Amino acid sequence: MHWNFQDIEETLKKEAEAISDEKNLEDFRIKYLGRKGLLPQIYASLATLSHEEKPVVGKNTNDLRNRINSIIEEKKKTIQDLQRRSPRELLDVSMPGVARKAGRKHLLTQTKEEICSIFEKMGFVVEEGPEIETEFHNFTALNIPVDHPSRDAFDTFYLNQPDPDNTGRFLLLRSHTSPGQIRIMKKYTPPLAVVIPGKVYRPDAVDASHSFMFHQIEGLLVDKDVKFSHLKGLLTVFCQRLFGANIKMRFRPHFFPFTEPSAEVDISWEGGKKKWLEIMGCGMVHPKVFEAAGYPKDTYTGLAFGLGVERIAMLKYGIPDIRIFFENDNRFLKQF
Ligand code: PHE
Repeated sequence: MHWNFQDIEETLKKEAEAISDEKNLEDFRIKYLGRKGLLPQIYASLATLSHEEKPVVGKNTNDLRNRINSIIEEKKKTIQDLQRRSPRELLDVSMPGVARKAGRKHLLTQTKEEICSIFEKMGFVVEEGPEIETEFHNFTALNIPVDHPSRDAFDTFYLNQPDPDNTGRFLLLRSHTSPGQIRIMKKYTPPLAVVIPGKVYRPDAVDASHSFMFHQIEGLLVDKDVKFSHLKGLLTVFCQRLFGANIKMRFRPHFFPFTEPSAEVDISWEGGKKKWLEIMGCGMVHPKVFEAAGYPKDTYTGLAFGLGVERIAMLKYGIPDIRIFFENDNRFLKQF
């Protein structure tokens, strides 16, 4: 029988490192020095060796036994030492901890949630639509004529993907959240009241007030006998809840192909330069939109509105430049 003392040494070392209590230590001792342990086996095999081999193997075995004994002595000491020390000594409660940095929601997420929750408290449900849209949902169903400039590739991002709704045309990145109106009307039968937050894309040159991507929240309420007064009342309460009861606002006549009549809502922001600032578009759902969504003629009326999340956050928190939202500079983000 030949013994590889080098291998044995290595295993020994590894096992010794893992010893952490008395039980481990006893198992270790039995494995090597116990009656059926490795060392007695090696000594027993000495008798079978030749005259030349015997002294060499014998010396190696003695060395090994000394190693094992000293490991056991050493480990015994460290284990006892640990046991003698009080838990207080082992745990230094005065040592500085590793502080975890808590994250936070991005200001735009906070603003989106605040706006949605105002509407949710008035019975609206939050829904979402896809960012990749068809021309039908983004334009045609919204009564936007084929030659309308917003359909131009200068005003809308088209994808290199064929539009399944419209052969020969391409899919696009939605330029507003209004296509969500069509999707909701196709999905549900009135009465319905939804808000649809999401990203929208326009190939605008980036500057302090323009970004190629920004966020909108669409609102849509459809029922029987919905009136413009409902729209005014709803958006007045909304502005008061968002900007405070003293907010001054006005409805200024405007044009959108998908609402009739249409208006833009302006607020006079005390914190700013006291001029009128546009915050959203709104109006009564155009009959052509109901028709495109497949609703029966002359049955329903509805109100719709759309607002820009960045615009509102900028007004509310006095942020002068839209680009700062997307730079992810922590010095900005952690202020909110
Ligand atoms: N979609 C319009 C825009 O992006 C806003 C709007 C929504 C206007 C709903 C009226 C009704 O400017």
